[in-house]
Order: sequence, then structure tokens, then C-alpha cells
Amino acid sequence: MNNFIDPIDFTNEQLLDLAELSLMLKSFDKVGACPELLKGKSLGMIFEESSTRTRISFEVAMTKLGGHALYLRPGEIHMGTGYESLYDTAKVVSRFCDIVCARVHEHDDMLEFAKHVDIPLINAMTWTLHPCQVLSDLMTILEHKPKEKELSDLTVAWIGDTSDYECVANNHAQFLTRFGIKLYHVSPEGFRLTGENLERAQNAAEAGGGQFIVTEDAEAAIRDADFVYTGTLWYHGQEDDAERRKSIFIPNFQVNEAVFRKGPDHMKFMHYLPAIRNAEVTDWVMDHDRSIIFDQAENRMYSEMALLVSMLQTEEKPRMKAHAENVVKEFLMSRNL
Ligand code: CP
Repeated sequence: MNNFIDPIDFTNEQLLDLAELSLMLKSFDKVGACPELLKGKSLGMIFEESSTRTRISFEVAMTKLGGHALYLRPGEIHMGTGYESLYDTAKVVSRFCDIVCARVHEHDDMLEFAKHVDIPLINAMTWTLHPCQVLSDLMTILEHKPKEKELSDLTVAWIGDTSDYECVANNHAQFLTRFGIKLYHVSPEGFRLTGENLERAQNAAEAGGGQFIVTEDAEAAIRDADFVYTGTLWYHGQEDDAERRKSIFIPNFQVNEAVFRKGPDHMKFMHYLPAIRNAEVTDWVMDHDRSIIFDQAENRMYSEMALLVSMLQTEEKPRMKAHAENVVKEFLMSRNL
């Protein structure tokens, strides 16, 4: 694997292999046996925007795998101050690091960065796609789905903002349906996928045998749902629109006790977090024993571990390493250093 920018570039088989590897790494880590496959490797992490889960999960994943991660915030490095270009930053990071992840606003900036960077690149979120989140959600769904059901038997009801700039809702529409999952987007007019994103969702459903259904009827969508999902009702920079959004979404497009009770007894609640409690979802649902939000957050680390080890597969060279160590030691002993 070179880059992980858009799951559309990968086959279902590859994505399922990554999910299986994530589960394997989780099981080893839980018994204190995480394999140190990335000793001596460094991950550069460029974040144009704040992050809790993505930043922590990548950093701890690298540590557990024996490597190291560097948090590179534009404005704290020269990039973002207007002093050093994206091109020069990409070239320099490539000389120091073995792999880089980036969170940038515009998806086109991610594609531009990919053109210049000489090491593997992971998309840590753009305004339209969040591939690390959807890959990790696939792992969580496999962990939490009813045992007797295949992926293609599942129904997911996404209730809330599902517009083009709700990057997880958008990415799931192109992703879950590929595995034959029936996906509802339950949202008010003006907050739905359009244009190329809608087309990609419809194509994915057609190719994977899933269904992509847009509706305003939350009760109908949730009736047979295995998972109900929502995302933040407003994001950084949209605070001035919060009251308007609340008036549009609450209560009909909010995940609350009334709608949750309409779902089957096994239905679980998902949210990529951060959540605005009592906006898109109420405390009652967030803290319910069928809420799996913190499993989702934790699984980010394991699916990122799977990405990192599959993208950085290298041949171990223990004899060459021992030789290099001896040569350097002899040099140091023979000189006045
Ligand atoms: N879900 C997610 O990407 O969270 P952060 O914004 O905290 O990284």
C-alpha cells in the first residue's frame, strides 16, 4: 500500500483484511503482546485542525509498535505561517519521516500534498472524507454485529446532518454500502448529499448489493436497524449557526430516547466523536449500555496500527544492523569524540 487517502482506491477484500488485522493486533495488545514491528520508524502528523482521537490514536499506535510519532501543527512548524510552502514541507518531512498522516480542510490540498510527498501518506480527515474513521467503524461493526448476521444482512440508520461536509456521513455512504449494508440517511432537506458524493453513494450501493436510502422518517429507518449513528451537529467555525441548526434538527433528526426505543433490542449507538451532548444526541443515548462510542474511539488505534504496519512492511536486517553498530563503536573508540 502506498497511500491511504480514499477507501475507493481499495478492494473490499483489502479493507476486510485490514479490519481483520486490526482485530488481531487488538487481541495481542490486550494481553500485553503488541508486536514491535515499527522499531526505528517515525510518523509525521500534520494537523491543520484540532484533534483528540486521531492525534492520540496515531501517536500511541506508533509507540506500541516500537516507533515514534511527531505532532506537526501548522503555525508551530513553518508551514501555515506563510513562510514555507506545502511543497517544501512535503519534501522535508519525507527526508525525516518514514510515513506521514495529514488532516487538512480541502480534499484537493490532500491530493496536492500526495503529489509532493515521497513517503506513504494517510488521510487523517478532510472536510469531505474521513477514511481512518470509516475503516475503524468497519472493525467496530464486525465486533458488535449480531453473530448470526453477515455484513450484508445489516442495517445502519444515520440520523442527523448528512450533508457533503459531514465527512463521516459522506464517507460511510460510499463505504458501508459496498459491503451490502442497507444504509439510511435520515436528514432534513438542505442537509443531504449532493452531486458527485450522492452519485458515489448510489454507485457503491449498486456495486456492493447494499441500499442507500434518503428519508425524513427516523422511525421507519430505525425499525430494523442494527446500528444507529449520528455525528456532530456543528463543527469548529459553525458556532454562530448552532441555534438555527438545533431548531431544524431537534427533535425529529436527533438520536434521543424516544427514537432509540423504536429500534430493536440489540440495536447499538455509534458516534465518531466529538459529540455535542443534547444537540445531535441526548445524554440518555450517549450513556446507554448499548452505546459503543468509546469502543469506536479505542478501535481507531488498532485500525491505524493495521494501516501503519501494512504500509511500512520492511525486511528486517539484523546482521546489517549489528555490523553498523560495530563499525560506529570502533570509529568512536578510535577517535577523540
Ligand atoms: N473522530 C475523530 O476524528 O476525532 P478527532 O477529531 O478528535 O480526531
